[in-house]
Amino acid sequence: MSKRKRKPKSTAASDVSGEESVVLHETAPLQLRYYGDPVLRKRAEPVAEITDAEHQLAEQMLETLYATGNGIGLAATQVGVLKRLIIVDIGEDDDEEYEPLVLFNPQLLSSEGDIVAEEGCLSIPDVTADVKRPERIVVEGIDLQCESVRIEADGLLARVLQHEIDHLNGVLFIDRISGLKRRLLSDELTRLQKAEKPY
Ligand code: NI
Repeated sequence: MSKRKRKPKSTAASDVSGEESVVLHETAPLQLRYYGDPVLRKRAEPVAEITDAEHQLAEQMLETLYATGNGIGLAATQVGVLKRLIIVDIGEDDDEEYEPLVLFNPQLLSSEGDIVAEEGCLSIPDVTADVKRPERIVVEGIDLQCESVRIEADGLLARVLQHEIDHLNGVLFIDRISGLKRRLLSDELTRLQKAEKPY
């Protein structure tokens, strides 16, 4: 998921001398897949075992997310990998600081309430729409240490988690908006399918 405004993420070490700092990574950002790519409509497979390959994938996805500058969540599907893995880093919401989250096989256990908020998606650049979703959710999944984790979320975190879990099922946020609004967006979506990709 993307949002319009985001404080720059400090993934690079700052250099007090003002010289350009160089940060070496073992991994590199991955190529994002965009609207029109059939992989975005596929259902991702559960991850049976969390090995070095899964650790590396999660790290590369985080790098890919930070490289976008405005991303707050990413599903493996969006980098063309059909594994049930999502990463989320919303930074700060309601004066609360959140740690980056890596979740394998995330499952929505329960939800309540309804709330409408604007969403965007890194795979559908420059398109935003109001989407109604449950307000409070409980999600369960497995973290990088193979521990089962349960997350009770509301606000932005709840929204991103639902958006990313949707990706693992081949569902995009534009599927969840009303027919009228979607028709209004249809020209834009057709253009996107043919467009040069921004990053
Ligand atoms: Ni998305």
